[in-house]
Amino acid sequence: MLQIRLEKPEDIRQVRAVNEHAFGQSLEADLVDGLRKNCPDALSVVAEKGGRITGHLLLSPVLISDVHQTVHGMGLGPMAVRPAYQRRGIGSELIGYGLNILAERRCPFVIVLGHPDYYPRFGFEPAGRYGLRSQWSDVPDEAFMILILDRSALQGVSGVVVYRGEFTEAL
Ligand SMILES: CC(C)(COP(=O)(O)OP(=O)(O)OC[C@H]1O[C@@H](n2cnc3c(N)ncnc32)[C@H](O)[C@@H]1OP(=O)(O)O)[C@@H](O)C(=O)NCCC(=O)NCCS
Repeated sequence: MLQIRLEKPEDIRQVRAVNEHAFGQSLEADLVDGLRKNCPDALSVVAEKGGRITGHLLLSPVLISDVHQTVHGMGLGPMAVRPAYQRRGIGSELIGYGLNILAERRCPFVIVLGHPDYYPRFGFEPAGRYGLRSQWSDVPDEAFMILILDRSALQGVSGVVVYRGEFTEAL
């Protein structure tokens, strides 16, 4: 049976392989390893079936700083599902599990940089609607999305959403 749960230390080797296979390169696997090591607030979720890790999702802190305040949220991704297991709903289950945890923790918003046909089904909408921009100038507007979990926390907040430095180093 497929189980969605938080990553355990013994999963780390397989999580790396899942990312390498799904992306066909090691950049995302290195990024995941770096964030796990440096960022205690990063959240790593896995899909496991019979001891085999088939999917992985990382969530890590982001922040929006404007002249008045800094608001902390989370960024979704990278996410990876082993190619042989894709399009069976595993990615959706990883996202649902991760978003539930963030809602329980009262995280006010979640940012994703991803495909505009995929993420709206989870409630994501273009972040530009709220005056929010990516720190990377080459990100298309429609790919930069936000899921707002607490509207009051974002009242009057706009500007650049900043990911952890590991992302800029990796990209
Ligand atoms: C993206 C990914 C994690 C999705 O996992 P998954 O388990 O296949 O996702 P699900 O089965 O929950 O959802 C599949 C749906 O997502 C859509 N989808 C998935 N990736 C997509 C993409 N890159 N572009 C457009 N649609 C995509 C599929 O069309 C499908 O839609 P449908 O349900 O309407 O047919 C997986 O395809 C993957 O590992 N891709 C390579 C790595 C990657 O690009 N990661 C995302 C960027 S961080």
